[in-house]
Amino acid sequence: MFRHKHHGERILPEHIAIIMDGNGRWAKKRRLPRSAGHAAGARTFKEIARYCNRIGLHYLTVYAFSTENWKRPQEEVDNIMELLRDYLKDAKNFKDENILVKFIGNLAVLPQDIRDLIVDAEENSKDATGLKLNIALNYGGRDEIVAAVRRVVSDGLAPDEVDEAAIADRLYTAGQPDPDFIIRPSGEYRLSNYLIWQSAYAEFWFSDVLWPDFKPHHLEEAIDDFCRRNRRFGGV
Ligand code: FPP
Repeated sequence: MFRHKHHGERILPEHIAIIMDGNGRWAKKRRLPRSAGHAAGARTFKEIARYCNRIGLHYLTVYAFSTENWKRPQEEVDNIMELLRDYLKDAKNFKDENILVKFIGNLAVLPQDIRDLIVDAEENSKDATGLKLNIALNYGGRDEIVAAVRRVVSDGLAPDEVDEAAIADRLYTAGQPDPDFIIRPSGEYRLSNYLIWQSAYAEFWFSDVLWPDFKPHHLEEAIDDFCRRNRRFGGV
């Protein structure tokens, strides 16, 4: 167990974004089906979200399902959707935990029951004052930018009215600060179409730990690293 720090002593990132990668490899190492890896990943997600809320982080965005993930075997897609249903049915917990939840991505093509559960969960947590949790679902960064540009056009903006703010205000994350810290575990060093507009100035942190093994102390390690970098580059 790591030693608890006095969280007031350091400046937390404003917005952490995590790519929850490595569920499949975690399961394979244990000779378990991939579904067991995703179930373990979902447990880790809940633990990390709760932890972020507890330390007073303002924004957390997690990548739950990409626009490319539909290419996986149907069984695996169904399995991830089922984990999502379980999580959403638990939605009253967001309220109890004071977490404000928001789903980002092209939600229109998701199964109707999931869309209904998403509306309920967002409605249920809308007065929460703690962590703002974005769950990226059927999310792709380029897809998001295309959707924003379409809205720029349908809103009838003139060419000289199209600036960075005009695009940013039409992204799924409109009104939120950009992520300043992006975490990718499981030994991959790619952004994989995640928050590509928003990550323009973000710091990155990589680790070989597979997502289901990712614990609050790994997050603490990452945040300490973030603080060290900011001390080095942020000062006069
Ligand atoms: C990447 O691991 C993970 C995913 C594509 C799915 C992430 C889903 C969860 C963590 C569970 C459901 C989420 C919620 C919000 C309840 P991978 O399968 O690509 O792993 P691999 O690279 O080792 O094969």
